[in-house]
Amino acid sequence: MSNYHVKTLEEYFQLYRKSVRNPELFWEEIAEEHFVWRKKWDKVVEYDFSKPEFKWFEGAKLNITENCIDRHIHIRGDKTAILFEPNNPDEEAEHISYKELHKRVCKFANVLKEQGIKKGDRVCIYLPMIPELAISILACARIGAVHSVVFAGFSSTALATRINDCEAKMVITSDGSYRGAKTIDLKSIVDEALESCPSIETVLVAKRIHSDIELKEGRDKWLAPLLEEAYQDCVPEIMDAEDPLFILYTSGSTGSPKGMLHTTAGYMVYTAYTFKNVFNYKENDVYWCTADIGWITGHSYIVYGPLANGATTVMFEGVPSYPDFGRFWEVIEKHKITQFYTAPTAIRALAKENLDFVDSHDLSSLKVLGTVGEPINEEAWHWYNDNVGKKKNPIVDTWWQTETGGIMISPLPYLTPTKPTYATLPLPGIQLALIDEKGKEIKGNQVDGRLCVKYPWPSMARSIWGNHQRYKETYFSAYDNMYFTGDGALRDEVGYYRITGRVDDVIIVSGHNLGTAPIEDSVNEHPAVAESAIVGFPHDVKGNALYGYVILKETGEERNQDNLRKEINQIITEHIGPIAKLDKIQFVEGLPKTRSGKIMRRILRKIAHNELSNLGDVSTLLNPEVVENIIKERL
Ligand code: WT7
Repeated sequence: MSNYHVKTLEEYFQLYRKSVRNPELFWEEIAEEHFVWRKKWDKVVEYDFSKPEFKWFEGAKLNITENCIDRHIHIRGDKTAILFEPNNPDEEAEHISYKELHKRVCKFANVLKEQGIKKGDRVCIYLPMIPELAISILACARIGAVHSVVFAGFSSTALATRINDCEAKMVITSDGSYRGAKTIDLKSIVDEALESCPSIETVLVAKRIHSDIELKEGRDKWLAPLLEEAYQDCVPEIMDAEDPLFILYTSGSTGSPKGMLHTTAGYMVYTAYTFKNVFNYKENDVYWCTADIGWITGHSYIVYGPLANGATTVMFEGVPSYPDFGRFWEVIEKHKITQFYTAPTAIRALAKENLDFVDSHDLSSLKVLGTVGEPINEEAWHWYNDNVGKKKNPIVDTWWQTETGGIMISPLPYLTPTKPTYATLPLPGIQLALIDEKGKEIKGNQVDGRLCVKYPWPSMARSIWGNHQRYKETYFSAYDNMYFTGDGALRDEVGYYRITGRVDDVIIVSGHNLGTAPIEDSVNEHPAVAESAIVGFPHDVKGNALYGYVILKETGEERNQDNLRKEINQIITEHIGPIAKLDKIQFVEGLPKTRSGKIMRRILRKIAHNELSNLGDVSTLLNPEVVENIIKERL
């Protein structure tokens, strides 16, 4: 029996039990079976939840790009590694073979070296979904530089915050990007950000939209001529198992974004293993994940996981609505996609459109459908199952986080019976626990609680860059000897898990993790705003949308409320990005507060949800009278 590929449900249960009984043996066999190592490990896992410290495959030496590229060249050198589907359907798709990928990554790696990037240096990547994005990530990994990709929809302020936090030496960007019918001037966003980023020495600029941009003398360089001249082979840097691979920022419930630090060997083993099993990838399959590589989904399941399996992975530059709402289905037909992995918010948006957009395309190549990013509601699940999967393709509802590095809970397609809205069972090696308010583990089935993980797994984030204390407080302090996810979950009568949503002040909007505190900070920067509170409310496409309650300063002058709303959202767009804009802004006289001055978000949340009959206990409020007014004027 191969440990690497689970073939029956029985085998899954067997392997799961083995992974709990003897995690070291379980992971060792997987690591040995599928990967190339320059030196094997001394110890599979070593950990201490109290520090917290986690080490996987200590003593091992490797380069992840050898595993993702070099070893495939001899057996599948001409196979397409990356299939690039451009924004504009009239532009030809690009098939980059493993051989070609090797050459392009090596050239890029040599350019990085020439530009002074060394092992351990941080490189910020701010690119649209073009091949250079995947190639630059791999080029960093080739030479041991730590990549930090920032989603190219983030604003200049958000970009600057991230660059400064990890003190990146270089930014890799493009002259612009295409997004549906629009073009976006990325380079000027970078220029603005760099006004406050002293650590940046070099900016490499890829050409995408051929716009007329200015290069800053001594700092900015066109990428193409440098690549042209670079040597096409680059000896990989031999890395230690626990050397940093990348930093990826995610929002917390409070404070600045958290730079989640992922390391090399454990991340590689876990993302490869989960990719193979969750998508049941076979040699001639064409796999497509619609996420942006700027999020963890793209890191793990567009780049590293698929390439470590010698897969063909699609990179899509565009949006689901361009040139029309049939684009996803058209691309599935065009490239004969076998596995399709997307987000519930995209499914809900497409389900609103005419069914002809789906039905006019041949989707018979599909074998597995996936979702990620937020709980999928029953209606969207059935729409996906009926119309895209034609009731014959299993849906893998995959639960995981930026912090977990890889998929933690998911059905295995064709093995685990699926159940709408349930992520079902933990993957082998993942030991879950549900915890009650008092911090006690809840055993048995038909229970719900806070979702924790009580044994380390290879791809867990090892720290928050520059702030290990915050890592400890956020994830390991709520309960002893456990990782706390921030999510609530229930376990049904057969032991299936269903994620019920966040239990902290993080709101998932269109699958994106947003903390309320940083958005409130932005709102409060408006000169007319005295105070604000933000909560989520259900939205039929985005899952959740944001509702802001805003107290204005008394200035004596009348302000046009619609203008104020626009200005507030403008500030949010500048500080964070358009994804964090408020759908509703209600101007209020006061906010419900406890006697200690804490805003009672629970009440605001109920009002935003229109659940007015049971507001709970308001007697502890300092100012119960404001609640009535807020209700009267709710939007
Ligand atoms: C949060 C993590 C993992 C990549 C994308 C998001 C929510 C994620 C599911 C799912 C229910 C889900 C959780 C989690 N989430 N997948 N299948 N069912 N909820 O990564 O930005 O780090 O967000 O997304 O609340 O904690 P992220």
